[in-house]
Amino acid sequence: MAISRPPHSILFLCSIFLSSYWLALSSGEEVVGYGYSIESVSVNLPGKWLSANLSLIKNSTVYGVDIPRLNLFASFETEDSLRIRITDHENQRWEIPQDIIPRQKNSPEKKFQHQAIQENLLLSHHNSDLLFTLHDTTPFSFSVTRKSSGDILFDTSPDTTDAGTFLVFKDQYIQLSSTLPEHRSSLYGLGEHTKSSFKLTPNQTLTLWNADIASANPDINLYGSHPFYIDVRSLSDDGKVSAGTTHGVLLLNSNGMDIDYGGDRITYKVIGGVIDLYVFAGPSPDMVMEQYTELIGRPAPMPYWSFGFHQCRWGYKNVSDVEGVVAGYAKAGIPLEVMWTDIDYMDGFKDFTLDPVSFPLEKMKQFVDNLHQNGQKYVLILDPGIAVNTTYETYIRGMQADIFVKRDGNPYMGVVWPGSVYFPDFLNPAGRDFWSNEIKIFQALLPFDGLWIDMNEISNFNTSPPTPLSTLDDPPYRINNAGTTNAGLKNATGKRPFVLSRSTFIGSGKYTAHWTGDNAATWDDLAYTIPSILNFGLFGIPMVGADICGFIGDTTEELCRRWVQLGAFYPFSRDHSAIGTARQELYLWDSVAATAKKVLGLRYQLLPYFYTLMYEAHIKGIPIARPLFFSFPQDLKTYDINSQFLIGKGVMVSPVLESGATSVNAYFPAGKWFDLFNYSNSVIVDTGKYIELSAPADHINVHVHEGNILALQGEAMTTKEARKTAFQLLVVLGSSGNSTGEVFLDDGESVEMGGEGKNWSFVKFYSEIVGDMAMVRSNIINGEFALSQKWIVTKVTFIGLEKTKGFEWYELQTSKGNKEWKFRHQDKL
Ligand code: NOJ
Repeated sequence: MAISRPPHSILFLCSIFLSSYWLALSSGEEVVGYGYSIESVSVNLPGKWLSANLSLIKNSTVYGVDIPRLNLFASFETEDSLRIRITDHENQRWEIPQDIIPRQKNSPEKKFQHQAIQENLLLSHHNSDLLFTLHDTTPFSFSVTRKSSGDILFDTSPDTTDAGTFLVFKDQYIQLSSTLPEHRSSLYGLGEHTKSSFKLTPNQTLTLWNADIASANPDINLYGSHPFYIDVRSLSDDGKVSAGTTHGVLLLNSNGMDIDYGGDRITYKVIGGVIDLYVFAGPSPDMVMEQYTELIGRPAPMPYWSFGFHQCRWGYKNVSDVEGVVAGYAKAGIPLEVMWTDIDYMDGFKDFTLDPVSFPLEKMKQFVDNLHQNGQKYVLILDPGIAVNTTYETYIRGMQADIFVKRDGNPYMGVVWPGSVYFPDFLNPAGRDFWSNEIKIFQALLPFDGLWIDMNEISNFNTSPPTPLSTLDDPPYRINNAGTTNAGLKNATGKRPFVLSRSTFIGSGKYTAHWTGDNAATWDDLAYTIPSILNFGLFGIPMVGADICGFIGDTTEELCRRWVQLGAFYPFSRDHSAIGTARQELYLWDSVAATAKKVLGLRYQLLPYFYTLMYEAHIKGIPIARPLFFSFPQDLKTYDINSQFLIGKGVMVSPVLESGATSVNAYFPAGKWFDLFNYSNSVIVDTGKYIELSAPADHINVHVHEGNILALQGEAMTTKEARKTAFQLLVVLGSSGNSTGEVFLDDGESVEMGGEGKNWSFVKFYSEIVGDMAMVRSNIINGEFALSQKWIVTKVTFIGLEKTKGFEWYELQTSKGNKEWKFRHQDKL
């Protein structure tokens, strides 16, 4: 990759140094430890919590001194989530601040008497399927089981021949290990990494340590840390556990860690903090997501416009260059919603400044004004490092407010694009105010619509590591970075913020969207985007995409064409490339332009569907892009799929991921599936099957499953225009005739999505077959809003109906007062 600025390989080296220091800790001399035994127990029965004092059985010296006494506290955070927290009995240790992930402050209350230890002390909740058991063995262990089936979800009983399976608790080394039923357990999550397989494959170590490493490097720790997995179980021998029964496990810890996954065991090796483990009961994948995001925070609502198509590039030369790109899209008739600028617009790479020669203020204002006139938007990049420069106002204000991260009493100096920088301390409320105020000042100058936060791992080109490694590597710093930006943008615009952050942590979805970082323009990287995007859905960050056509290296016409076919169905759809690479705007090749019009045309028709899924994600945490097993958990074959995904519950995307291919071998779970580009093409399978589908150069296979009702709108060049078009309902009937669908409607930019006010509507559609008639009914919440917007359904199309006579067109009738809309059959419109 030809980059004229400090290359990522420098960052890579720096990060590798940090990681290898730590890996040396975990791969050196064998740990000799014998765990802990139970000293005393306190319980509140019938149980909400249980507390135990633990004492070390035998000292080991590897990785430092063992903490002699620990406190274990098990509690039900909710009926569906069980928390097990193990801390130093004597000393307070680093834990994730409450304002980042609010949770119960649990410590044993004095009024409860210590009890005599009983063998296998249980903690159970009458409404919960989870059961916690404390095993009074030597060493002690604990397990979490499912009451309904007896399935063991987490079990720390050590393998007494293997030191790597004991509980170890030292100042800088914590080890926790659980057995897994290897042949019945499929694990997903634990990122951020680029992986070819979405399902975790046994015998690998997953390192979690936020670093600026290009995502074109598979299996290495990347920009974010999410120590969360879901475990999808298949049928148990006794038949008590049905296939697809799912639970989730979170280790709420922000320190660097290795997670060894062996198939029959998972072992966490963490370099600080405490054990704060959560088990989420599920039992379905979407219920796990609901329970997980109840703890970590529901995903931020994203504005309607952010579901349009975005164009970006690092290396746009000047305002005319960027204007030319906007014009190029318009001329080619390809929808362009958002134009972005990378660090090129800045003066000497200083945040909140404009290059006076190439991106002067007056021209930029005119450019943004033109975009707004056309119903388009503008997003710009910010990096957290503030240039150390005594003539730079942002720097001066930062120094005056004393908000930079300090080391030994002085601001810590790093090196990023502008040269020497200081980093605002986003954990300091004054640091947040500073950042928010800078956003406000700049927004008043140039009315940008969204912000892109890059290099916030934190990335530092200074390759000499600080000694000793300390709080400067503290991950929560990065979380608040995205959160602060979200609040700053809300404050500056009064609208729903759109923030895109490269670095993320548990709970970042509350504030930000994410892209998968610096991929390469290769066919492998195209394929990796599916597991990466699905993972971020599990991490509670549903608005996620990957750089379409590839970031590093020159793309090709064929790759770019296949990439936009897939990228048109990413939740966040943006073309982005690195400086020095060949240009890759979609209009540059006729075949890419033609395919872009076709696939973005379908995306824009599906915008109401994407947006309704955003609403579902916001209120329940369920991802927009989902693995197939979310809808077909009983179908074991779906557990291994890496090259297809669902949008919502029923739209399946099966892309071409190989050069030269003109067909695709796609898996179809049981049922009737209909091609969304041509409703008369269907795939009907009684049981799940791989089917070879034709996929000529200009085509991607996108199918909708029976049982769904999609509310579609018309194609347009912007989401604003598309939103003005009439709705049509696509009712996809199965044998029962009972299909459902829903649509969420609001102005697309109010800070709240849904909520207390009445400035939104939610419509649920149901179909049924009555005799020879197919009917659609709708129930609407807050119907006045939809009516006031004159959103009407002008057409209802049924597919999958065996008797087609007379059922093609329906007219909407509204009955005022009862807020219910009914569709009745008319012979003709
Ligand atoms: C790294 C980001 O990942 C990339 O998207 C961006 O173009 C460059 N930094 C330059 O800002």
